[in-house]
Amino acid sequence: MTLTIGDTAPDFEAETTEGTIRFHDWLGDSWGVLFSHPRDFTPVCTTELGYMASIKPEFDSRGVKIIGLSVDPIDNHEQWSRDIAETQGTAPNYPMIGDPEFKVSKLYGMLAEDVSGDPTERTPADNQTVRNVFVIGPDKKIKLVLVYPMTTGRNFDEVLRVIDSLQLTANHKVATPAQWQQGDDVIIAGSVSDDQAREMYPDGWESPRPYIRIVPQPDRQPAGSRGA
Ligand code: BEZ
Repeated sequence: MTLTIGDTAPDFEAETTEGTIRFHDWLGDSWGVLFSHPRDFTPVCTTELGYMASIKPEFDSRGVKIIGLSVDPIDNHEQWSRDIAETQGTAPNYPMIGDPEFKVSKLYGMLAEDVSGDPTERTPADNQTVRNVFVIGPDKKIKLVLVYPMTTGRNFDEVLRVIDSLQLTANHKVATPAQWQQGDDVIIAGSVSDDQAREMYPDGWESPRPYIRIVPQPDRQPAGSRGA
């Protein structure tokens, strides 16, 4: 199954480094980020897991729960965590799903349905499609899917930036332009007519073309108060 924006994130039960979870119950009313890894003890993923641990406070402050997944069993995750702490300076401080039966990887469309066998006999390259980032909203709908190649470490600051945009645009009828960062100007959503926009923005808007209506970010936070 290919999952895309707007689909309900499939629910599942899984063993994690912090105990058994039922995914939707674990998410509760929070936003969530599920990020996946093809095997434990892989170099690029080692750096990613350490970096995610170092910026977890940024996710916490946005009300976002983070959870990793790797195809190995959780015993291997425990040993890998020690390597991550020693080499990256921060051990994973979030749950890591063990997926040795490929259940979640298949449910989320990252491995083919016919994959089977001993997970420890599969190479990282065999599982190279298990390198996704899913951002999930409090409504359990998928808001973002990123798929990375095995040789490119993920930019998790970009994930935070998208979450800032998603949370802003969930609450205001605006969209965010290219390279937008928290506090930058935004675009009035296309669903808002000019008459409605005049009521919402009595001071007007900047309009280089009639279809581009630029206004300051609503509820703009003071500079430096949020963001990685
Ligand atoms: C890694 O370095 O994390 C990696 C290596 C091979 C396949 C997938 C990931």
